[in-house]
Amino acid sequence: MAFYQRKFIYKNLKRKITTIILCVAIFPLIFLGETIYYRFAKTYEEKIEDQIKYRTRSLSDAVEVFLRERTAILATIVDTRSFDDLKQQENLARMFKVISRRTDGLIDLGVIDSAGQHLAYSGPYNLKGLKYFQQAWFNEVMTKGKYISNVYMGYRQLPHFVIAVRGYSNGRGWILRATVDSDIFNQLVRTAQTGMSGDAYIINKNGIYQTAPRFSGKILGKSNIPLTLFGQGTTVAEKIKANGKAKHVAGTWLKNNEWLLVITQDVGDEKGGLLTTRNTEIIIIVFGCLAIIMTTFFAMRMIFNHLEEVDKGISELNDQLIQSDKMAALGKMATGIAHEINNPLAIIGEKAGWMRDLLDEEKFQESENFKEYEQSVDKIEEHVERARKITHNMLGFARRMEHRLDDVDINNVLNQTLELLQSHAQTSNIKISKDFQSELPIIASDQSQLQQVFLNLINNAIDAVEKDGLIEVKTRKKDSQIVVAIKDNGPGIDEEHLKKVFDPFFTTKETGKGTGLGLSVSYNIIKKLGGIIKAESKLSEGAVFSIKLPIKIPDKK
Ligand SMILES: Nc1ncnc2c1ncn2[C@@H]1O[C@H](COP(=O)(O)OP(=O)(O)OP(=O)(O)O)[C@@H](O)[C@H]1O
Ligand SMILES: [Mg+2]
Repeated sequence: MAFYQRKFIYKNLKRKITTIILCVAIFPLIFLGETIYYRFAKTYEEKIEDQIKYRTRSLSDAVEVFLRERTAILATIVDTRSFDDLKQQENLARMFKVISRRTDGLIDLGVIDSAGQHLAYSGPYNLKGLKYFQQAWFNEVMTKGKYISNVYMGYRQLPHFVIAVRGYSNGRGWILRATVDSDIFNQLVRTAQTGMSGDAYIINKNGIYQTAPRFSGKILGKSNIPLTLFGQGTTVAEKIKANGKAKHVAGTWLKNNEWLLVITQDVGDEKGGLLTTRNTEIIIIVFGCLAIIMTTFFAMRMIFNHLEEVDKGISELNDQLIQSDKMAALGKMATGIAHEINNPLAIIGEKAGWMRDLLDEEKFQESENFKEYEQSVDKIEEHVERARKITHNMLGFARRMEHRLDDVDINNVLNQTLELLQSHAQTSNIKISKDFQSELPIIASDQSQLQQVFLNLINNAIDAVEKDGLIEVKTRKKDSQIVVAIKDNGPGIDEEHLKKVFDPFFTTKETGKGTGLGLSVSYNIIKKLGGIIKAESKLSEGAVFSIKLPIKIPDKK
């Protein structure tokens, strides 16, 4: 499988694994977040409802206690003092003074006889002498014994209400009544008006405000809250306001179901904490997801880069193996061909020599075609020589080259090679620069064969550059290898040719100029020395041939 095909497979695999990991990690995170939030929101909402219920219940208790306390004060007076005693104006005034010192909210105190006549009065108004016999509340106190009125304006044009308690004197009923300042009462209820939107107020069973609401409406105005909403105990309902926002409305009946205490609060106001939690959770999930995505991509990239690297190594090794196979097969064929051609070549060469000898004879020299004969024989001999060189090379290529191991200093071998080529390069104005790593280890290798390889490579580079160019020869020690790189700024090698440069007889040079054996011979030599030779190039960007040789330390002699 070609490397690029595997690259495609890896890309696919990488995409699949990344998607699976992301799905497996991110979906549960979001699901978990949502579930936790859902549970939390439910509990939170229950808590909100409980809280408003609790607040309503405590306030209703406080209001009931307020009323009960003041009623109890009046009842105690009625039970402990006689009618005759209290109907005396100064006695009543003294009593009012004592009460006012002990409790707040009472404005006045009055004694009414069984005929409804206001006999004594202590307070800011002149109510003495007024008759209450006709009034509904008078009869109610007389029959029930205790009475608390609704809030009304009265003479003072200030909202207030009345508490009255009945006593008995000589078998006849009489009444002690007091007025409650509704301001004090208002203050008590107002303590439950919390937050930006919280309201608390009391309405009577006709929907009339007994205390001032915080929003929309005033004391003694009519409330539009539907009273049927509220049953026994404390009821909580959710209502949508005119502006579309939801609010909680909680209510408890008090004063024997005559008054309704109402507490309202915007749901949004109460859910502030929930919203903060939601935002925090979203931030945590978003950051969590980002961290997972980044880690996954990073890890995948690392793993697959490593895999591709390993694969590239394997692929290169594979290429080398294929190349070796090709060489072996071609080698065998080449030996056969070389032998077959060598014999006819020898005969042609011998016959050409014989023809030259004949041409020396006088009669031939006198022939008018003598010059053409001589040139033809020259050409035959030249081409026989060239063919012999090729067969010689072919045999050399195919032969199992036995190599001897010398102590080789690679820099030295390169220097010697460059000396051989320097003048040839200079005539074409080609500069050869050296970048050698000093103190390269001496290795056990075959000096003359290495020289042949370097010669081939540098010659190729000179041929490629043609003239006015630069060839760079570099040596480095890398791990357990010595790397030699020969780089030129010639025309480079296109992708198609790059695959074939090490093939025997591959040449782009014109016939007669190159045999196409230089690189394949070099390849064989380097392989036998345990190294690797590689060509890298892009068209019009020059070429780099690099050789990696194992650092084999020579045995001590
Ligand atoms: N440095 C280089 N720049 C561009 N092409 C190169 C370079 N080296 C080799 N080649 C290409 O590789 C081919 C094969 O090279 P190789 O050395 O095997 O044979 P050759 O140089 O053509 O012939 P010979 O080595 O027998 O003179 C060359 O013909 C050339 O096309
Ligand atoms: Mg060559």
